[in-house]
Amino acid sequence: MPDSRVPRRRRFLVCEPRHFAVQYAINPWMSTGRPVDVIRALDQWQALVDAYRAHGHTVHTVQPVSGLPDMVFAANSAVVVEGRVFGSRFHAPERRPESVPYAAWFKTEGFEVHPSEAVCEGEGDLVPAGRWILAGTGFRTTREAHREAQEYFGVPVISLTLVDPYFYHLDTALFVLDDGSGGTPGTAGNVAYYPGAFSPGSREVLERLYPDAVIATREDALAFGLNSVSDGRHVFISPGARGLADRLAVLGYVPVPVDLSEFHKAGGGIKCCTQEIREIRS
Ligand code: ARG
Repeated sequence: MPDSRVPRRRRFLVCEPRHFAVQYAINPWMSTGRPVDVIRALDQWQALVDAYRAHGHTVHTVQPVSGLPDMVFAANSAVVVEGRVFGSRFHAPERRPESVPYAAWFKTEGFEVHPSEAVCEGEGDLVPAGRWILAGTGFRTTREAHREAQEYFGVPVISLTLVDPYFYHLDTALFVLDDGSGGTPGTAGNVAYYPGAFSPGSREVLERLYPDAVIATREDALAFGLNSVSDGRHVFISPGARGLADRLAVLGYVPVPVDLSEFHKAGGGIKCCTQEIREIRS
């Protein structure tokens, strides 16, 4: 089993944390009384970029904009499936202007951007998982945005209700380990998640879709262990989520610890800092 996990090369978009700060509080992790060490954040972020490149992934960067301290959380900017870009409309007024520089980046790269009409925070809540898109709602992205995304992508969108304010985005409570395109083509793949972040009905949906899911503890989730990025083999994961990393290793995944503790102060981690550009596969 350990060698059966096949990585797939990814294309990521990230944003340097030059202007990163906690200047407002829009989730329970944020406190303006807990300043960010920008030098440390820059080092941690560079280590993430280096880790992606060392594992064969392509990393693009968008220029950070002064006055947009959360722009580092690139995952929130859009959802990209088969080269189609569904642009975000942020919940918090403080973050709304981020849509402009991100849309400009996509256009420069030759993508058309379809902006969401309803509140939608990109891959923070819309998590492409191979044959379908898992979609969180409850705190940020609305059900109306789920419907819009399904219509735009023509891919089934499965709505899941989040109930714990600490896990306000789906990508803080669940990540895709394998999207079915790697070692197990044509299958639903697999995910890891923390059940306590979901409503009872949504938990049941996840149990039906993923009977073999890796179940994480609240401790793993609070350590941002579910805000991980997997390429199907390597799992870029917060070093605080030891229990989860150990379980993944037993299952044949290779945990690659990357510490983004400065970003936890804003309620974000590895996945939040990473937008995946999924293009049409031949
Ligand atoms: N401070 C940001 C916010 O609350 C953090 C975003 C984290 N991003 C994510 N994909 N979960 O909007």
